[in-house]
Amino acid sequence: MEKERVELKDVANLCKRRGFIFQDSEIYGGIGSVWDYGPLGVELKNNVKKQWWKSMVYDRSNIEGLDSAILMNPKTWKASGHVGSFQDMLSDCKACKKRFRIDQLKTESCPECGGELTEPKSFNLMFKTRLGSVELDAEDIYLRPETAQGIFVNFENILNSSRRKLPFGVAQIGKSFRNEITTGNFIFRSREFEQMELEFFVKPGEDDKWYDYWVSERMNWYISLGIDKETLRLREHKKEELAHYAKRCHDIEFLFPMGWAELEGIASRTDYDLKKHAEISGRNLQYFDDSSGKSYFPYVIEPSGGIDRAFLAFLVNAYKTETVREKKRTYLSLDNRLAPIKAAVLPLLKSKPEIVEKALKIRDDLRGDYRVVYDDTASIGRLYRRQDEIGTPYCVTVDVDSLSDDKVTVRDRDTMRQERIETAKLKKFIGEKLGI
Ligand code: GAP
Repeated sequence: MEKERVELKDVANLCKRRGFIFQDSEIYGGIGSVWDYGPLGVELKNNVKKQWWKSMVYDRSNIEGLDSAILMNPKTWKASGHVGSFQDMLSDCKACKKRFRIDQLKTESCPECGGELTEPKSFNLMFKTRLGSVELDAEDIYLRPETAQGIFVNFENILNSSRRKLPFGVAQIGKSFRNEITTGNFIFRSREFEQMELEFFVKPGEDDKWYDYWVSERMNWYISLGIDKETLRLREHKKEELAHYAKRCHDIEFLFPMGWAELEGIASRTDYDLKKHAEISGRNLQYFDDSSGKSYFPYVIEPSGGIDRAFLAFLVNAYKTETVREKKRTYLSLDNRLAPIKAAVLPLLKSKPEIVEKALKIRDDLRGDYRVVYDDTASIGRLYRRQDEIGTPYCVTVDVDSLSDDKVTVRDRDTMRQERIETAKLKKFIGEKLGI
């Protein structure tokens, strides 16, 4: 069966209507390409992070975690090359005043109105801010454009405190900021976003082997969380496309509604960063290899993904519609581990206090390890549709019979199949189904 093409506007509408994503500071007209995650969005986003952390840190024995600060000594960005190289070449249209990235232009004139373009100018993507309270003494600093540098500048600290031997990695999740020129496509390219990055330090010469390993591990992570294989592909960067630090890079691309686009990059960064930081800071950032008695700069393999992009890919992948009894049903077939709410307890008759009381007790018994809600604000049919649309895998319905047989109906989101389960066995039943 041909896979249904999902429109970005349908996903964005659902996100707003159901409380996944809102435009940032909307009451003031918003601010370009900055987004807020609502009550359901924060749950889904936290679940994406949790799964990444589990697969990178908890399921392995050679990775440490880190949470470094967003603000860093500005020398960091000189050393990393971001002050000199993290920029886009831009041209403005003299007629319609629109701004374009040169690398995305296919013609020499304005693609919108055919007008003449200005000479290209370079534009650094880092956000600048001021450090210090006295305006005159204040120093220009940057909001980090990637989390990776927090790992490199802490290399020595982590090595000394954890006594790690190569190969080992450092994982970090956190906010990054880029003053992007071409934005749009909902949360795909924003100015404030989150990254999940691993810097994996290896012996020089073993980098190609580890590079292949991480490309395949990262592809499998998306597939293991339910992304359809047909909508993922690998694309190797051509020489001229490579970032200033990279020897090789593969993008994992996803078939977003607007076409194939980057979800995550896996780069072979050689010893570029550690060497530069050692040179500029004057610190010894080499690794002493006691098996050979030699010191050297480790090479680095970096799988770097965007949480917001993964979030969007999981939503697009899960968004399904079908016709049931001549009515359209929309549901999110999210992996149970990602679903914002794991179970909804619904009373069939909210006018019967015994049913409500029993349903509330069931909700209280189920919750604790994951999000469980109670809802009685509509008829059962509408309550089911609401939970389907936000991806809740199980609805538990308490009816009149439940009062005498102490059983409830558990409805599966995807198949809509219903099962009668003894209340006493419900927690175990749902726990096993969720697999968490
Ligand atoms: N440390 C390497 C690095 O930052 P990158 O390819 O520039 O590499 C890594 O970014 C990932 O971060 C991308 O694959 C994407 O998922 C995410 N990302 C980058 N810029 C983004 C933006 N403006 N909005 C949302 N996600 C972004």
